[in-house]
Amino acid sequence: MNQHSPADLKGRPTEAEPYPAGIEEGVRTRLRNRCIVLVGLMGAGKSTVGRRLAARLGLPFKDADQEIETAAGMTIPDIFAEHGEDYFRDGERRVIARLLQQGPAVLATGGGAYMNAETRVRIAEAGISIWLRADFDVLMRRVRKRSNRPLLQNPDPEGTMRRLMDARHPIYALADVVVDSREIPHDRVVHDALVALDGWLAEREP
Ligand code: S3P
Repeated sequence: MNQHSPADLKGRPTEAEPYPAGIEEGVRTRLRNRCIVLVGLMGAGKSTVGRRLAARLGLPFKDADQEIETAAGMTIPDIFAEHGEDYFRDGERRVIARLLQQGPAVLATGGGAYMNAETRVRIAEAGISIWLRADFDVLMRRVRKRSNRPLLQNPDPEGTMRRLMDARHPIYALADVVVDSREIPHDRVVHDALVALDGWLAEREP
């Protein structure tokens, strides 16, 4: 192995796996007017992977959390502190409904968005959902880096994360496609997402 190559956890070179030829064009064409919607827990990498996936496909990238902040003129911690979680969830539901109507894009949603049944129906109608799945240690390592998540601002963020995993994983599992987000370069996860999307679309729209 080239000593200067980045390596994944098993020590394999990461750039060894080229994209199947034309995969972006195939996904983009069969996607038609739909959105690709990333769901999953806080720290799964939805925004980072989503931005890169959008660039690969030549699609706009939209971040629901950012759009909610813009619409409210406040940060998410401030929305939670001043108006409470129910108010946030209501805004989240409306903002995602609007974003889904704006034509093809890659949309990263906040971790709780897919728990709303109405939002799940809208996503199924206007998009293809990808659950970006990550294990507990990966999620905790990532969320510890920032303090912008109100649900984890308590004395036991680990316990909270475990409870959220228990409650949410069965719902995230309803997504069309599952992609594992691990401690590997994000482009590898993007690659896995493209391959999974290609397979899903090819089965339904050969
Ligand atoms: C939340 C996740 C956050 C944000 C809000 C609530 C959740 O988004 O929407 O803090 O309920 O899991 P990220 O998943 O992008 O961190």
